[in-house]
Amino acid sequence: MTSPDKINRMTAKPRLNICITCKASTAESHTDPRHGQQLFDNLQERCGDADLPFDVKPVECLTNCTSGCSVALNGLGKWGYVYGNVDPESMVEDLCELASKYAESEKGIVAWRERPDALRRSVIARIPPLD
Ligand code: FES
Repeated sequence: MTSPDKINRMTAKPRLNICITCKASTAESHTDPRHGQQLFDNLQERCGDADLPFDVKPVECLTNCTSGCSVALNGLGKWGYVYGNVDPESMVEDLCELASKYAESEKGIVAWRERPDALRRSVIARIPPLD
């Protein structure tokens, strides 16, 4: 018999982790609230309560602090990805689209040509899934 904990892990949605402590990459464009918090708030507002195929989680620091707003996608059995330089205003819908495609993919791999244009060059790292 499958344990409830194992069932929860099997049905868990992939996660879009947004660093809410990120500042802009240049000192002169420092803002309050920080760009990471703005990105999180804008995504909540603009991608909202729709039945998203992924969860959104605010996190503090992905150790990518010199590359603008940073986010990480991860999920069970999926490759993990860290993205940087995510504009908190102009790239919100692109980020939702990317996270949706990530969630729908079998192993977390979204082909380069399938990614929104604005995020194609923003990958910082990818991390292999746990087997
Ligand atoms: S503060 Fe966002 S990655 Fe460090």
